Amino acid sequence: MTTPHIAQKAPFAVEVEAGKDYWWCACGLSKSQPFCDGSHKKEGIFSPVQWKAEASGTKYFCGCKQTKSQPMCDGTHKSL
Ligand code: FES
Ligand code: FES
Repeated sequence: MTTPHIAQKAPFAVEVEAGKDYWWCACGLSKSQPFCDGSHKKEGIFSPVQWKAEASGTKYFCGCKQTKSQPMCDGTHKSL
């Protein structure tokens, strides 16, 4: 299986807004991490992951793109 690019080996802390949809970059190529900017189309392997905020607050989106609980960091980056 092809692995995504590592944007950074740490999560991105983002202030999210309740009820808003976010599109997490799964390929690692986006220039507006942790979200998709359309760059995945260059390779055509990965697609962004939609996530809806149920409450406002700080969320930690995976930056290494290897998390098992997309789109959030699950600590996998520590073993990379
Ligand atoms: Fe990475 Fe769209 S740019 S999924
Ligand atoms: Fe990817 Fe933590 S940044 S698992």
